[in-house]
Amino acid sequence: MLHLTADIGKTRLEIHVADITTLDVDVIVNAANTSLLGGGGVDGAIHRAAGPELLAECRTLGGCDTGSAKITNGYQLKARAVIHAVGPVWHGGGSDEETLLAGCYRTALDLAAEHRLTSIAYPAISTGIYRFPADIAARIAVGTVASELASIPRGIERVIFCCFSAGSAEHHKDAFVGMGLV
Ligand code: APR
Repeated sequence: MLHLTADIGKTRLEIHVADITTLDVDVIVNAANTSLLGGGGVDGAIHRAAGPELLAECRTLGGCDTGSAKITNGYQLKARAVIHAVGPVWHGGGSDEETLLAGCYRTALDLAAEHRLTSIAYPAISTGIYRFPADIAARIAVGTVASELASIPRGIERVIFCCFSAGSAEHHKDAFVGMGLV
């Protein structure tokens, strides 16, 4: 369900409450771990929906550093591709968590641009099992995407912040307001 939209140049930013595996976009972002070999939460949902070929491809990637991301095909998902981002575990805010989380959002935009993918959907990375405070994470997510696209549009036409609860959507809406997007 669409909650809010805002435009940055030619890119439309949208907040939805939905299961990210159902979205018909070029690429969905996974909240993965450094092994890239699956897990619970959205990682588990994406692997279940994509089918076993996704894990087979992930096995060839050699893992991924926290704060970065790697791309695979989407297989049985509607999305053509999956960008596996590894968010930081929240340890109270003194371990560079905010910079690492911003790196996930930025790297995903770069990978989408490299692969000419023009629509991308993000879950609220790190705000589940990794316990990142949802309000701070939403500000980092929206702030990073908005400032990156304002300086380098990367040919991206649509960015969806795919929230899994109304509370998460509210945090992203507050971030839109805080950034002066609405
Ligand atoms: N669609 C969209 N969002 C979802 C879905 C879904 N199907 N399932 C869960 N979420 C939301 C959660 O509600 C949370 O807001 O994704 C956000 C991220 O939560 P997690 O999936 O727990 O991811 P994260 O906190 O980044 O922890 C990553 O969890 O699953 C493992 O392998 C993963 O070790 C890694 C860790």
